Amino acid sequence: MEMSLNNVSSIWSHWLLLFLTQVTLTTNSAPRSETSLSLNTTLLFNSGAYNLRNCSCYSPIRECDEVLANSLCRCHTVLRSALPPAGLREPGRLAVWVKELWVLEELLNRSMVGHLLLSFCGMKPIDSQYLVLLGLRTLRIHSAAPEAPYPSQEMIISPASGVAVELEALYFDLSSSFHVTFLDVAVLNGLSVLKAYSVVGPPAQTLSQQFPHLAVPFSLPSPATPDNPTDPSEQTAVLQQNLLFTFVY
Ligand SMILES: *[C@@H]1O[C@H](CO)[C@@H](O)[C@H](O)[C@H]1NC(C)=O
Ligand SMILES: *[C@@H]1O[C@H](CO)[C@@H](O)[C@H](O)[C@H]1NC(C)=O
Ligand SMILES: *[C@@H]1O[C@H](CO)[C@@H](O)[C@H](O)[C@H]1NC(C)=O
Repeated sequence: MEMSLNNVSSIWSHWLLLFLTQVTLTTNSAPRSETSLSLNTTLLFNSGAYNLRNCSCYSPIRECDEVLANSLCRCHTVLRSALPPAGLREPGRLAVWVKELWVLEELLNRSMVGHLLLSFCGMKPIDSQYLVLLGLRTLRIHSAAPEAPYPSQEMIISPASGVAVELEALYFDLSSSFHVTFLDVAVLNGLSVLKAYSVVGPPAQTLSQQFPHLAVPFSLPSPATPDNPTDPSEQTAVLQQNLLFTFVY
């Protein structure tokens, strides 16, 4: 079957599999497991089963060190029941320390985060499960498990340099695409090297028509209605964006 690269629409009838370029690994050596937050970061961690601590940190804090965070950062408590049900909206840097799984399930899943620093501070290994993140650009993970061979790793999700060049050759405009990342939370155990691949999808508005059985685990912007007076041209623009899915595992 012939596929003309000049005919952009023909691209969407095929899903493309592209491998991201090499992951930037920060290290697996002992001293670097003492990584810390950089300046001016919003830090969220659970304190017990029902509360979340929300801190603004202006000095470096060693990961998973709650005592230090509580004394050096400006923190307040947020009730678990008061978390935004549709996920967080944090285009900048966000650090999350996870000790209990509800933090992933109820706080982070379906969130929009630009730069995520995710630390696992618990004892029991985490089972494989997918976390959906929107608009993610960089990811840093840390595992406090003492035997983890890869305690700290980092990855640029978007724009991944090698992929950008390949996509441009296919007339895919990365800057106007809507990026969805599926993260296997088992990576937080620090047992393997981070890997990723990306798949180019159709425009958001045609996803459900082309893949009626695909349960999209996030809500795409709905068209404007009289009750929802969003600028219709803006809504249409989002719906016409192409989807780029990245799987990190
Ligand atoms: C961090 O925040 C403080 C207080 O808001 C500000 O004075 C400082 O310039 C910020 N530093 C950076 C690196 O953004
Ligand atoms: C954390 O606090 C910041 C600043 O007070 C606020 O903007 C943000 O929405 C809070 N996040 C959560 C999950 O409560
Ligand atoms: C995130 O949400 C999706 C879809 O709702 C669900 O399948 C998945 O298990 C959730 N992940 C976690 C870690 O809770």
